[in-house]
Amino acid sequence: MVNRIPFPQAGLDEPEISSIMKLESNADVDWRGGRLPGFYVHFANDEVDRVGKAAFERFHATNALGPSAFPSIAKFKADLVGWALSLFHAENGAASVTSGGTESIFIALKTARDWAKVNRPEVTRPRMVISHSAHPSFDKAANYLGLEVVRIKPRSDFRTDIDALKSALDDQTIILAGSAPQFTIGVYDQISELAAFAESRNIWFHTDACIGGFLAPFAEQNGHQIPPWDFRVKGVKSISADLHKYGFAPKGASIVAFSSAEYRKYQTFEFDNWSRGRYITETFAGTHSGANIAAAWAVMRFLGNEGYCGIAEQIWRVREKLIREIPRIEGLFIYSNPELTVMSYGSNTQNINDIAAGLAQNGWYTVTPSPTPPAINLGIISLAFGEVVDEYLNDLRDIIAQLKAGDTFFDSSLLGSYGDQQAKGT
Ligand SMILES: Cc1ncc(COP(=O)(O)O)c(C=O)c1O
Repeated sequence: MVNRIPFPQAGLDEPEISSIMKLESNADVDWRGGRLPGFYVHFANDEVDRVGKAAFERFHATNALGPSAFPSIAKFKADLVGWALSLFHAENGAASVTSGGTESIFIALKTARDWAKVNRPEVTRPRMVISHSAHPSFDKAANYLGLEVVRIKPRSDFRTDIDALKSALDDQTIILAGSAPQFTIGVYDQISELAAFAESRNIWFHTDACIGGFLAPFAEQNGHQIPPWDFRVKGVKSISADLHKYGFAPKGASIVAFSSAEYRKYQTFEFDNWSRGRYITETFAGTHSGANIAAAWAVMRFLGNEGYCGIAEQIWRVREKLIREIPRIEGLFIYSNPELTVMSYGSNTQNINDIAAGLAQNGWYTVTPSPTPPAINLGIISLAFGEVVDEYLNDLRDIIAQLKAGDTFFDSSLLGSYGDQQAKGT
């Protein structure tokens, strides 16, 4: 049951509101202190933060449903999608700004489903086959869209088991997808192979680059080897890439991009049986703020290619340190071969839950380890973490030493969670 709360009779003045909000935020994680490695808050630096915030405030009242009323937002949107198409090497593509990775994936799958109605007319039970490592937003979208999902076990290096995927196909399969990279282990699925196979079977292929989409192009320019994932890969029809992750835009901004503008007709929702006339939208929301679009534009324009390359290199240095130092700690190992800047580590001497509880007790916001495989997920999603990474490694060494000594108990009740575990209620 959700409690009813009497609606307040009188209003409060601004200072009172401000002091209540300050008090309430005291329990929030200290994200600026960098003590939440890998979850929830992407952060580049204070300047970038300021630029995004100022734009957010300036455009707070705009409504992106009405580009004719707010040509500023239309222009920012056009730039964002144009920039994304060029970063992703689309030749004749199309793209939209959405509210986040989940919505981008939703719009990509909706487009694929409606594409299949025309291009795979024999299909009556549309189906998608994905690896177990794909983000849950695929199933969430599929649930809303009436698609069946089959998840297959990954290979031992956590990439897609392509043989298993082929065996799981049937004549109703209309979508395949791969992650670039996967959320937890940080490896890339074999996008080239999967996309080529999908194309040979007239199946839609989606690359989920929610994490890597706005980091990989710059890491690649810095000379790092990034597995193929974008529209240079034949057969990739859509890409999700989050501006609010490595684009460092305030939350509520992502891109869904298509290899061809021809898919636009399957993407848009158009309705003409309403007293006000024709209504068309390209994404899920009706009314939605233009503030996050303006803020994403401001951050991208502020940083430019040079700024993003610089930040990518700073992040890369932290990644190298973690990949070098974690396996030097007794019993710890990093799973597979993380190819960007998210990774997962496990232990062959200690219970991973105890290590996670130890980190939480040392003031690191840590979510419960993933079960398959048993791992603590780590990502350099914030350069605030880069400022304290040595402290993290020292704490990790101490925790392992204490667990080995066997006289310390860490309290797992301090562990956080990924997603809203309270949403279900009772
Ligand atoms: C690989 C991947 N895809 C999709 C998503 C969903 O993105 P969002 O939380 O912005 O909806 C995430 C989120 O972390 C992700 O890591």
